[in-house]
Amino acid sequence: MLKELVIKNRSCRKFDETFRPDYETLFSLADTARFTPSTVNRQAVRLMIINDEERCETVFDSLSFAGLLKGAGTPKDGEKPTAYIILLCDLTVAKEMHYDEGIIAQTILLAAVEKGLGGCMLGSINREKLFEELGIDRERYTIDLVIALGRPAQETVIDDISIGESTAYYRDARGVHHVPKIRTEDLLL
Ligand SMILES: Cc1cc2nc3c(=O)[nH]c(=O)nc-3n(C[C@H](O)[C@H](O)[C@H](O)COP(=O)(O)O)c2cc1C
Repeated sequence: MLKELVIKNRSCRKFDETFRPDYETLFSLADTARFTPSTVNRQAVRLMIINDEERCETVFDSLSFAGLLKGAGTPKDGEKPTAYIILLCDLTVAKEMHYDEGIIAQTILLAAVEKGLGGCMLGSINREKLFEELGIDRERYTIDLVIALGRPAQETVIDDISIGESTAYYRDARGVHHVPKIRTEDLLL
C-alpha cells in the first residue's frame, strides 16, 4: 500500500556500506520519476546518477546531514550512502523548478524504498564544491537537491505530536532516530 511505503520512507542517514546499488537500479528510479507532473510540463530537471566510490566520497563531503543533531547525525565510516542522485535545473529551460524537484525527489525515494533501499533528500549542499569537483557547467545548471541512497541501517520511529509540541527530530539513548509528526486532526483547518 502507498501509505505503508510513505511511512517506511523515513530520512535515512545510516547505511550498510557493504552494499552499493547498481546503475540499472538507479536508472530505474529515474525512469519512474520521469512520469511525474511538471510545471507547464517543461521538464527542466536533470538527474545525475553517482555510484562509484570516488565520486560518492566527493558528494558526501559536500553535504550536511541532520543539522539538528549537531554532527551526531553525520554517517560514520561504514555507514555512508553508497549512491546519490543529484537533481539539477537546466537554466536553458527554466529559471527554477523547486516544486517539480520535490515531487521527483519523493517519487525517487518511494521507488527506492519499494526496492528495499532507503535514502534522504539533502538541500544543505556545498554547491561550489560539487560544481568544481564534478565538472558541472555552472552557467547552465543549478544544483538543487541531492538524494543520498543505499541499504538502510537506521532504526527510526515516528512520534505522533500535536501542533505546538517540538517538531525536532532526535536520537534516543539506544540510537533510535525519532521523527515527530503532527496528527492529521491537527493539520486540518
Ligand atoms: C527539501 C528538503 C531538504 C532537506 N535537506 C536535508 C539536509 O540537507 N540534510 C539532512 O540531513 N536532511 C535533510 N532533509 C531531511 C529532513 O531533515 C527530514 O525530512 C525531516 O527530518 C523529517 O524526517 P523524515 O523525512 O523521516 O520525515 C531535507 C528534507 C527536505 C524535504
